[in-house]
Amino acid sequence: MSDTYTLYNSTVMDHFMNPRNMGDLKDADGVGEVGAAACGDIMKISLRIHDGRIADARFKTFGCGSAIASSSMATELIKGRTIEEALKFSNQEVVDALGGLPPVKIHSSELAEEALKAALEDYVKKHPAKAEQPVLASA
Ligand code: FES
Repeated sequence: MSDTYTLYNSTVMDHFMNPRNMGDLKDADGVGEVGAAACGDIMKISLRIHDGRIADARFKTFGCGSAIASSSMATELIKGRTIEEALKFSNQEVVDALGGLPPVKIHSSELAEEALKAALEDYVKKHPAKAEQPVLASA
């Protein structure tokens, strides 16, 4: 087994090899795209929002296996959450749900948090009447 495989646990490998929610959402309600300055990886998250809740989420990631696994897990975790709940989303949830990431790869989970929050901000900008502005301001 190569060193690459020993770096990651089986949950991370599963989300890397069989990513959930990959792709775009046609006419998404909010889209966030961010890049990691340190490594150049890019992550995009698209959201479908119904009645203040995340009804669906998709991602496209140009980057390492850890970034793909983090975006896959993040999109799984946020489905069904309210906007308010999603604005409190933390990268630690991704790390915990993946069963841990190597310390040098923690920033890939931070990228997922940033992409999600960028998508929520995009939603709020496009739908100001539907979003709760005080909630966004406190995020
Ligand atoms: S190497 Fe930076 S997120 Fe993948």
